[in-house]
Amino acid sequence: MNYLITGGAGFLGRHLANKLVEAGHNVRVIDDLSAGEKDALDSRVLFTRGDVRDQPKLWTLLHDIDVVYHLAAKVSLPQSVLYPREYNDVNVGGTVALMEAMRALGTPRIVLASSGTIYGDQKRQPVDEQVPPDLRTPYAVSKLASEHYIFTLGRHYGIEAVALRIFNAYGPGQALPPAYPPVVPQFLNRIMLGGSVVVFGSGKQTRDYVYVADVVDALITAGEQQHIDGEVINIGSGVETSVDDLIALIEEVTGRRAHVLHNQEQSGGVQRLVADIEKANRLLGYRPKWTLEDGLRETIRLDARFRDMIADAPPIP
Ligand SMILES: NC(=O)c1ccc[n+]([C@@H]2O[C@H](COP(=O)([O-])OP(=O)(O)OC[C@H]3O[C@@H](n4cnc5c(N)ncnc54)[C@H](O)[C@@H]3O)[C@@H](O)[C@H]2O)c1
Repeated sequence: MNYLITGGAGFLGRHLANKLVEAGHNVRVIDDLSAGEKDALDSRVLFTRGDVRDQPKLWTLLHDIDVVYHLAAKVSLPQSVLYPREYNDVNVGGTVALMEAMRALGTPRIVLASSGTIYGDQKRQPVDEQVPPDLRTPYAVSKLASEHYIFTLGRHYGIEAVALRIFNAYGPGQALPPAYPPVVPQFLNRIMLGGSVVVFGSGKQTRDYVYVADVVDALITAGEQQHIDGEVINIGSGVETSVDDLIALIEEVTGRRAHVLHNQEQSGGVQRLVADIEKANRLLGYRPKWTLEDGLRETIRLDARFRDMIADAPPIP
């Protein structure tokens, strides 16, 4: 099979690209490297630096492609509040530009990396795909708009479309940008360095942390499976974990003690969020293989940044 991955030099994209070439497929990647890193891509992946809105570039890359994985996006929730136009331009504009280019080339299928954040704050947990979205950030708006675009244009253009609502993915190689780093690598880094971690709010807020290998398996199945055109599917672990529990687990797997500082609530009022993964199981045969503890251990084992820290310093008693 021939695949194009937009944003394929990013965290999820690299894991997906490398697994697909490993299985003998042809993989092309387009990424503007605004957040991605192309060095960690397998040398068999054909990399093109470019913007996902650059249609002439897409026309060349889409030739003979069977499935497009659309992962290119700006991904920070708080940053999207500061720069909503940019988030709209890249995330929504990128999706529309891609669908137009796919129509021109007759590309048959798209799998969109959407997000569990579109559920916002819901009383009933776990959340299933029927729950009306509660949009709290421009990022969430951009992901829901992208879903609507792939389904609406997909129907007009004869393109099969599937959206995976991914919850909090983590794993080796996840970027640690200075502004708004994702919580798992941020906490791993701070706790292993002996620094302090800042918890916003009570520490009782929950999220659904899903290991990258489980997300990649779901993406691959969604690219292959028949009769899922038009479906929105949650991809999480199905397990609810509080910030306090996450810190305790990191202490356990690293052998380091966390110095916790508390600050004001910053989670946009979202107290609990955990995925109902029954639909993923039914349509994709999806069953997460990784517990959070095993996923954290594997992240440390495979990510040189964390592995070296464990090797360098003995645990603090
Ligand atoms: N990681 C998660 O927990 C998670 C959860 C839900 C949804 N998602 C979605 O999955 C996708 C991948 O997320 P990630 O965690 O790998 O993030 P990431 O930032 O590592 O990957 C996104 C990639 O898109 C690229 N990109 C950004 N703007 C671009 C543009 N205009 N043209 C071309 N490339 C561009 C970046 O350089 C980066 O490599 C995103 O669409 C994200 O919204 C991720």
